[in-house]
Amino acid sequence: MQKRRFVGIGIAVLGGFLLLSVPNESVAGAHLVYERIGYQSGVETVVDYFLANVGGDDRVNGRFSDTDMAQLRGHLIDQVCEATDGPCTYKGKNMREAHAGMGITEAEFAIIAGHFAAAMEKAGVSASDHATIMSVLSAMQDDIVGQ
Ligand code: HEM
Repeated sequence: MQKRRFVGIGIAVLGGFLLLSVPNESVAGAHLVYERIGYQSGVETVVDYFLANVGGDDRVNGRFSDTDMAQLRGHLIDQVCEATDGPCTYKGKNMREAHAGMGITEAEFAIIAGHFAAAMEKAGVSASDHATIMSVLSAMQDDIVGQ
């Protein structure tokens, strides 16, 4: 009886451990997000939709008036590719350096993040991959806002 209870507890603990390890597994296997997005051309589509959204939004497009947009596009493609575990290496500045001295507000960050979310939706990125990528963006907020 006692032994059976131990086995039961053991199975419950193991089950809990396996359940807990599922989210980690999906983060560790993020290259699958890159694949499901549609590899390089899928990443480029998302970034192009995103840049079109930003360019059409008068609340934030003035920020990019002096920016080399072709270079920014390249950096964003590498960044998204790398963040989804694709075969790219982001070679731009880190997020704190890239936005230093700009005084970007939380509201602007929310607008930009919203444009990225809309771009993923338009490109047909699944809800769970969408959530994974948005959590990567959210983690950058402190390095971008208020620098
Ligand atoms: C999740 C949010 C964001 C990400 C992932 C992101 C990413 C980047 C990257 C990769 C670069 C290029 C860095 C380099 O050239 O080395 C960059 C530059 C820039 N970002 Fe962001 N950014 C974000 C939010 C914002 C926001 C909210 C604004 C302002 C509304 C902004 C304005 C700019 C500007 C103006 C530049 C270009 C600076 C230049 O001309 O050299 N970014 N960003």
